[in-house]
Amino acid sequence: MTSGLSRSKGAPYPPLELAQRVCCLNGRGDPYPAYERLGAEAKAALVQMLPPDWSFDGKRVLDFGCGAGRTLRHFLDEARRAEFWGADIDAASIDWLGHSLAPPLHAVRNRTDPPLGLDYGSFDLIWALSVFTHLTDSSHAWLLELHKLLRPGGLLIATYMGRWNGAIFTDEPWDEDRVGMNVLRPEQGWEVGGPVVLMSDWWVRAHWGRAFEILRVESQVHGQTWALLRKRDVELTPDELARPSDDEREYAALRHNLRQVERDRHRALAQLRHQYESSLSWRLTRPLRTGAQLARSASARLRQRAPGA
Ligand SMILES: C[S@@+](CC[C@H](N)C(=O)[O-])C[C@H]1O[C@@H](n2cnc3c(N)ncnc32)[C@H](O)[C@@H]1O
Repeated sequence: MTSGLSRSKGAPYPPLELAQRVCCLNGRGDPYPAYERLGAEAKAALVQMLPPDWSFDGKRVLDFGCGAGRTLRHFLDEARRAEFWGADIDAASIDWLGHSLAPPLHAVRNRTDPPLGLDYGSFDLIWALSVFTHLTDSSHAWLLELHKLLRPGGLLIATYMGRWNGAIFTDEPWDEDRVGMNVLRPEQGWEVGGPVVLMSDWWVRAHWGRAFEILRVESQVHGQTWALLRKRDVELTPDELARPSDDEREYAALRHNLRQVERDRHRALAQLRHQYESSLSWRLTRPLRTGAQLARSASARLRQRAPGA
């Protein structure tokens, strides 16, 4: 453990499959120390993003998309002086969190789409780490749901994949001019990380900026872009949040996203074909396919030799 990082002081760890669900722990040595370190790094980054006069005392805080509490487990001390909630769609993660770390934490399972079911205007601080990085059709509705859950002037810390790590997910260098909110691998299941959503800073300012004042945007830990936002006193619909801005990069980004999705589709099909062709049944039936091919050639030759052919 790097010095200066928090420790979750004897809190139990979730089963490995729940820990692995929120990040790949392979290649990081012992999985639980790695899980501990990643959570502690997230806490340190959150604290660093908050205003210098911030205090958790008496606050109501929500970790949206908390998994089994990788980050929340580092706030058990603060949870004696403040109310900490974790929400996630994953039943197993929320069940584990509810049984193992509540109290002092509070855990709630939400559905794929809003509402979350907690009181509007009641949270001082919400964070969503590596969540908008994967939300596609429900992204705008969830951002506005978090907006409603915040008190007037409440703070949101959200991470997104952008200029610091976007190139990892595409076969091309990061180019801010052709990324707005670009969705890759839209059909990819959560067991392999879910869809990948890239966002550029100009797009976040143009769209999220309608609902929030953008106070800070910076590189923190885990390769993502971290944004600190303050709730604006507005009421918006998801369509109003999605409406393209005057920035001409909006259309370049949409066109480029189509190219990216098409490229992904070709890659996925090639992969499937390769898997299929190297599968046992494909290899076992190869003599039959060869035989059929020989028979077709022989009968074509016979037809050519036949009188009048
Ligand atoms: C990459 S993990 C990050 C987990 C956690 N924030 C962390 O940093 O350890 C993304 C999490 O978002 C959750 N998630 C995805 N869609 C969600 C939704 N609509 N509402 C709540 N959670 C969601 C997933 O179940 C998963 O636990």
